[in-house]
Amino acid sequence: MREIKSIREMRLFSQKAKSHGKKIGFVATMGALHEGHLSLVAEAKKRSDIVVVSIFVNPIQFGPSEDYHHYPRSLKKDKEQLKHFDPSVLFIPDAKEMFPDGFKTHVEVDALSKKMCGRSRPTHFRGVTTIVTKLFNIVSPDIAFFGAKDFQQQLIIKQMVKDLDLPVEIVAMPIVREFDGLAMSSRNAYLSAKERSSATILNKALSLAKLEIEKGERDLRKILFRMRSLIGSEPIVRIDYLLAVKPDTLEEVESLKGKVLLAVAAHVGKARLIDNLLVSV
Ligand code: PAJ
Repeated sequence: MREIKSIREMRLFSQKAKSHGKKIGFVATMGALHEGHLSLVAEAKKRSDIVVVSIFVNPIQFGPSEDYHHYPRSLKKDKEQLKHFDPSVLFIPDAKEMFPDGFKTHVEVDALSKKMCGRSRPTHFRGVTTIVTKLFNIVSPDIAFFGAKDFQQQLIIKQMVKDLDLPVEIVAMPIVREFDGLAMSSRNAYLSAKERSSATILNKALSLAKLEIEKGERDLRKILFRMRSLIGSEPIVRIDYLLAVKPDTLEEVESLKGKVLLAVAAHVGKARLIDNLLVSV
């Protein structure tokens, strides 16, 4: 695993790999790696000749009162974990390399960026799409892997790639969960033991909805009400949103028909957690 810190060196590496006809697979992360991240690296290994993993805690996707400064950073442990997957390159630029003084340009995907997480994090997705565009330009991947845990993020990135004719295939991978159903997240590290156990209520609410739909319940309002009540049984879990949306436009749906994404975001202690479930009716 070669470590690269400069944009110039990363670009040269990719240009050379491409000139040898190699297919480059890419996994962008902010580090504090867990099995969710590693599932993307494993898939990238299967589907490409060269795998590039980036670790960069992207300042411009955090709001002013968010956790940029406290975001977990564990580079040494991350490298240990990555060793088992043996990617070709670990790209770890610093903030000055990616955002030198005078940086002025942003990439923004309309509409989709304003829904769901975009409501409480109004500049988040333009921070994500800007950094991902930069990373794509630097790494030149043929294929890039994103997790369905951040459903809205992968959808926005797919839209951006389509709209801007970026020559990269986007693959979304399933959510990796802890033994008790909690979606893996770097932010789970913020949770105390009590908060960690209460946080499982989010996935339990999604599972309850799935079960009710499987049993034949078709009244979406009832389902959302029961989910909300269940989450309410854990008073330290504060819902930001609980929505049923169309998975392609993120528009709210009134009834259960075809594919519906159930999505939840909630604050638990210092952590803001998200989870979702795609159901087909
Ligand atoms: P980060 O939260 O580190 O996540 C990196 C990638 O891992 C994302 O594609 C995310 O969806 C995926 N991922 C995280 N938890 C997962 C889980 N439990 N199961 C499956 N995949 C999971 O997402 C970001 O970083 C940033 O916004 C980034 C795209 C790197 C841009 O800065």
